[in-house]
Amino acid sequence: MAEGRIFSGMRPSGRLHLGNYFGALANWVKLQNEFDQCFFAVADVHALTTLQGKDQVAEIKPNTHEMVLDWLAAGINPERCVLFVQSHVPEVLTLNSLLSMSTPLGWLLRVPTFKEKVRQMGSDEEHIPYGLVGYPVLQTADVILYKADRVPVGKDQVPHIEIMREIARRFNHLYGDTFPEPQALLTETPMIAGTDGVAKMSKSLDNQIELAADAEETTKRVKRMVTDPQRQRKTDPGRPEVCNVYSLHKIFNPDKLDEIHQGCVTAGIGCVDDKLTLADGINTYLAEFRERRREFAAKPGYVDEVLADGAARATVVARETIREVYAKMGLA
Ligand code: TRP
Repeated sequence: MAEGRIFSGMRPSGRLHLGNYFGALANWVKLQNEFDQCFFAVADVHALTTLQGKDQVAEIKPNTHEMVLDWLAAGINPERCVLFVQSHVPEVLTLNSLLSMSTPLGWLLRVPTFKEKVRQMGSDEEHIPYGLVGYPVLQTADVILYKADRVPVGKDQVPHIEIMREIARRFNHLYGDTFPEPQALLTETPMIAGTDGVAKMSKSLDNQIELAADAEETTKRVKRMVTDPQRQRKTDPGRPEVCNVYSLHKIFNPDKLDEIHQGCVTAGIGCVDDKLTLADGINTYLAEFRERRREFAAKPGYVDEVLADGAARATVVARETIREVYAKMGLA
């Protein structure tokens, strides 16, 4: 068992898709068996940085439920890790406030994900929530409240981990050694293309294949996938290297790759049949996941129980850290 404590989180986005699975979840499942202590949180307070009003916020709970079903079905084991909802351990909000007092605004304004978000929102300062600027502070609080020192994330989150280290270092410098400086555990992930063939898989573009979809829905979505644009007729040879369907065959049909490649470049297999082979591959790959998910979903109250137990276990650690922080700062 490796030394170290893992923390990672996901905003409650509802049902996860293949991109989320290979980008994060599959790695979490692996890590829970390598590290003795893993904390995995549903970052519902982070979700509030982009949701406003009762109707939007009302989606958080059902989305949490759906997402946690995906975690469990993927093999996250609540006996091996602490699974909980961020807001159920409000000590994180205390630490967030305290850390925000020693974090320079300049650090936060320079974070690329923040700049990107502001650009997307097309907003002027009047419309940017204060909490959005503080997103990385809350993320730091998440991790160091549990004194985690390894954070499995994708490349896009690396600037957040950098700032996390700086915030932790600064606290240690100001008030005495308290927190480990967390390190990113970079997840090497194949890029999972969306079914539109232009962007990576993402729910907001509606180009995703959900883990929890049934076989029929999966097949329907795969059939819509964009293939090599130069292959207009079945008799045209295709170029597997530029084809999204082929990039997914590498994951879901590794045993048939040569055959598929050959069929495509010689125009022996048409795109329609090729997609059906892919849909079969995905459906076979996910069959067990989907069965397990149905079983968990059928147990009334199961997800809530797992999350309540997780929050109780997380709270023990969180309270101890807050006690120490108060003492170090001289507030206690
Ligand atoms: N910001 C992360 C994301 O959007 C989610 C997250 C919240 C997180 N808290 C975290 C990730 C702590 C790692 C560590 O994907």
